Amino acid sequence: MATPSPLRTSQISDDLLRTIYASDQEMYPAPLTYERLRSWRDACPELSICFTANDDHDSSEPVGVIIVLPLLKKYWEDLLVGKIKEVDVDAKEMFVRGDRELQAPAEVGLHVFHIERFAAWDAEDALKKTGARPAAVTVRGCEDGGGKTGFADLALEEVRRRVEAANAEAENNWRRWDVLGFSALTATPAGKKTFARLGFVPTGYKEIFQLVDTRSPSTPENMTVATHYVYPGQTQIGELSSGVISESEMTVRYCPASR
Ligand SMILES: CC(C)(COP(=O)(O)OP(=O)(O)OC[C@H]1O[C@@H](n2cnc3c(N)ncnc32)[C@H](O)[C@@H]1OP(=O)(O)O)[C@@H](O)C(=O)NCCC(=O)NCCS
Repeated sequence: MATPSPLRTSQISDDLLRTIYASDQEMYPAPLTYERLRSWRDACPELSICFTANDDHDSSEPVGVIIVLPLLKKYWEDLLVGKIKEVDVDAKEMFVRGDRELQAPAEVGLHVFHIERFAAWDAEDALKKTGARPAAVTVRGCEDGGGKTGFADLALEEVRRRVEAANAEAENNWRRWDVLGFSALTATPAGKKTFARLGFVPTGYKEIFQLVDTRSPSTPENMTVATHYVYPGQTQIGELSSGVISESEMTVRYCPASR
């Protein structure tokens, strides 16, 4: 049975989505438009989740967010190997949402587009260090016997719980989702460590961003970002001697029943 999250959850507001967009562009300099990001949230608001602390204090400061794209199998499999790029995901065509009237379960891949833990998550540490009550409140229920449960564990568990709960009600008005697995294009050292810890493995698809000097007498300011794609099975791309600013790696964790 689905267990409730130790965090409170709400939908991601427009203001918060703007913040997420800016943060994402810093971590992952792909040509994503804000409109496209908003279309993803709007097409499946249930899996674009804002978390706040679940305790007696009436804090509404988010401790973290997750945005998950529910993709039909064929698009998800293409995304895993780079045949479709993340920025090209079209919610109308590729999300599983549109076909509720169909009776057979839909095979779905859940792609984590963005996950981020905010400073409010660390409020308890601030309280310990300074003795002063921080603006944000303590996140309760996140300590287990063996140590701290990461935000990513709780966020992914909430996604799983929501899909499970929706499936449990999937009588006539909701097409059941047969979840094949989770994926994430890891862009930061923290993201890479986190998803590896959670059992995600690389598919072999990578995106490498390189700052290229395209200055000329008429455009002395011009530095552009070039993207290099590495596909599964490909061992090398040309010389990337300098200017690499970011390297993203597609990772996947299949659900046991789907293999
Ligand atoms: C990814 C994230 C949500 C995971 O949160 P979490 O589940 O609470 O896990 P933590 O952040 O505590 O730990 C993740 C690991 O990354 C490490 N880490 C955190 N920030 C790091 C950084 N800036 N550079 C390198 N490693 C970092 C942690 O030390 C930890 O390593 P460990 O497991 O060896 O101790 C959180 O680190 C975050 O919000 N990071 C910023 C946004 C981001 O990078 N998102 C992922 C993009 S793919």
